[in-house]
Amino acid sequence: MDYDIFPRVRERRLRKSQKIRDLVAEVSLNKSNLVQPIFVYPGENSTERIKSMPDVYRMTIDRAIKFVGEGLASGINAYLLFGIPSHKDDMGSEAYDEEGIIPNAVRSIKKEYPDAVLITDVCMCEYTSHGHCGIIINGKVDNDTTLKYLAKTALVYAKSGADIVAPSSMMDGQVKAIRDALDENGFTDTIIMSYSSKFASSLYGPFREAADSRPQFGDRKTYQMDYRSARTALREIELDIKEGADIVMVKPAMFYMDIIAKAKERFLVPLAAYSVSGEYSMIKAAFENGWIDEDQVLLEYMHSLKRAGADIIITYYAKRLAELLR
Ligand code: PBG
Ligand code: ZN
Repeated sequence: MDYDIFPRVRERRLRKSQKIRDLVAEVSLNKSNLVQPIFVYPGENSTERIKSMPDVYRMTIDRAIKFVGEGLASGINAYLLFGIPSHKDDMGSEAYDEEGIIPNAVRSIKKEYPDAVLITDVCMCEYTSHGHCGIIINGKVDNDTTLKYLAKTALVYAKSGADIVAPSSMMDGQVKAIRDALDENGFTDTIIMSYSSKFASSLYGPFREAADSRPQFGDRKTYQMDYRSARTALREIELDIKEGADIVMVKPAMFYMDIIAKAKERFLVPLAAYSVSGEYSMIKAAFENGWIDEDQVLLEYMHSLKRAGADIIITYYAKRLAELLR
């Protein structure tokens, strides 16, 4: 300690009251930056519990409309839609069927709430019988064949009224394939939010229960990234921006804050962080055991993501946060 400096330089001065702390705070959490994921499934007037995600439900479209209505009223403007189809097959055909679950959900929600921001996940794993994120040829996920189906899917979602399409299958060239298809069909204003930096993570476990999308053989390690390497994530983001991504994403968020911080420094497009299902379930489980204060942990975590550099945060807690931020 330098005793000449000490009596005059006092860090604690700026922490002496709540209002002073608020005055010097570097980041704040805004409802307008939060995205709430929703799982929709066929049927009417029903919801289903997801065992590994307490308080999160699969919803039929009519219930999803209600849910979005309440969310909008509490200040949550953006929703990321995942569909559970009525049937799955090798080619994931309900993903790009205009009468499929997601196009129907988008049209119905937009009819009731035209200014809800609707984001659709563009992937095949919820729709394929094998549970992989693409088309299988000779036992492997075939990159270039999958691109055609992803482009087709994104176009169907754009036509149904999605504001943002979010490719998450981690095929090389998926952003370019989708941008080309959208532009050629006049959807030049449809935004692409790419799951650019998506790691092969065990934190997706509860989601795979929710969406019934567990791979039936093998794993996703040939397309999702290896968690030991950071530079490959930056490279994926760089390529996606070159291919035309408007918004890029880091996923998961909790164990990947180094990637968020580096991406924020390096790239100039809006940066989204996806706090995934396993993160939600860990916080929930600790809370249900009486071990942590859920709301306080949640606020601390969300502010940490902002501090790391996230502009947009996708979280299953979005609606709860809206209550906390009121
Ligand atoms: C589809 C997709 C997944 C998630 C988002 N989009 C699952 C996966 O890659 O297995 C995971 C989200 C979460 O865990 O909350 N590819
Ligand atoms: Zn997938």
